[in-house]
Amino acid sequence: MKILAFVSLFACIALSFPLFDFAPDWPFNAFSLLHGNGHQDRLLKLGPDEYRLASEQEKLNLKRANKRFIDMTEQISIDVAVEQGLVAKPSHSLWQKLFFIGSKQIDTLKKPIPVYNYPKKTQYSSEVKNLYNSIDIDGVRDNLSNFTSFYTRYYKTESGAESAAWLFDQLSNLIAPFKEIKIEKIHHKGWDQFSIIVSIPGEVKDKVVVGAHQDSANLILPNIMRAPGADDDGSGTVTTLESLRIILEAYRTGTYKPHNTLEFHWYSAEEGGLLGSIDVYSRYASAKEVVVGMLQQDMTGYTQGSIDAGVEPHFGLIEDYTSVELNSFIKLIIETYNSIPYHSSECGYACSDHASALENGYPSSFLIESEMKYSNKYIHSVMDTIDRIDFEHVREHVKLTVAFAYELSLAKKLH
Ligand code: BES
Ligand code: ZN
Repeated sequence: MKILAFVSLFACIALSFPLFDFAPDWPFNAFSLLHGNGHQDRLLKLGPDEYRLASEQEKLNLKRANKRFIDMTEQISIDVAVEQGLVAKPSHSLWQKLFFIGSKQIDTLKKPIPVYNYPKKTQYSSEVKNLYNSIDIDGVRDNLSNFTSFYTRYYKTESGAESAAWLFDQLSNLIAPFKEIKIEKIHHKGWDQFSIIVSIPGEVKDKVVVGAHQDSANLILPNIMRAPGADDDGSGTVTTLESLRIILEAYRTGTYKPHNTLEFHWYSAEEGGLLGSIDVYSRYASAKEVVVGMLQQDMTGYTQGSIDAGVEPHFGLIEDYTSVELNSFIKLIIETYNSIPYHSSECGYACSDHASALENGYPSSFLIESEMKYSNKYIHSVMDTIDRIDFEHVREHVKLTVAFAYELSLAKKLH
């Protein structure tokens, strides 16, 4: 009887580890033997030339230690990575040993980034500034309040899929009057939370993209603990949502029709290692799509760090692993349209979804709420809540995003 109780207790503990995303290695975790959960079956890119294999548990530990990476498992098969000498040969789980099926091959590991002739002067300042009268901060607050009320938006959870469905409904309602504007769910292999793309077709197929990530994560126990993710990245999500709403007002009145195709993206699973965005941009690269510029909005609402340090509220323009030319264009936009300045900052390799665009050969930029050192320290915890959000700062990000989208989508002769 005692033995039976002991065995059941052991089985319960072992089987519950995957729930916690917190699986110690075999022999303690029976589940990991089947799923490879405790095995190094993820291929991570930690820098331009730095790859390593990791288990789900090691991935989480890297995030907790602020190490940044792109999870390339679906882009480069581990076999190819071994063949090309990127990583040493892994040890396979029993399951993989029995049924090993390689994933797809890749053509090149590094794609050059083209240089485009971005405008050196803004052209539409009176039209764009007029639109700013329509920014509805109460609506933005309501949207963020709804979005943060999901228990967590962690990409592997049911509420993470539900929050994506909620966002999809809001966007569907927004674009409903315009039959030529498309909305698409991008489903990913391995988890249920989908990415979302809204596309306003231009005269040409070249794309201008504005992005944010919709998922959140509590790094203590991501599968079971609450993660409101108000700033990271509920704020970027509602910033882009409001920017789309404003652009659509101009579109409805006929004062604006893009030359380049204008897209708004809400990525799934950024917190899992840019998983949603790397999927989106590798599909674009395979389909030979052209993206002339991508701007990421991740964390747009926290100013207390700057205020506490006696520093004026400002944007943080991330200048490492981003496009120098696109950053210059963004500086021009800020100087023309915003009432706060930018400060240069750096966030290391692959800290948000702009890195997935860059990885696939597309110029991208990342504008965050402040220099990294003053940014929100409550992210990835239950304390990343809406009461810490400064909506006047979100307004500045909306102004920036609308101006970026408007000016760049109307720019010709970029090639
Ligand atoms: N929003 C963060 C990036 C960030 C963190 C900006 C801290 C400013 C300060 C983003 O969602 C994130 O957490 N990224 C991960 C990297 C990812 C590839 C696992 C990170 O920075 O650890
Ligand atoms: Zn984020």
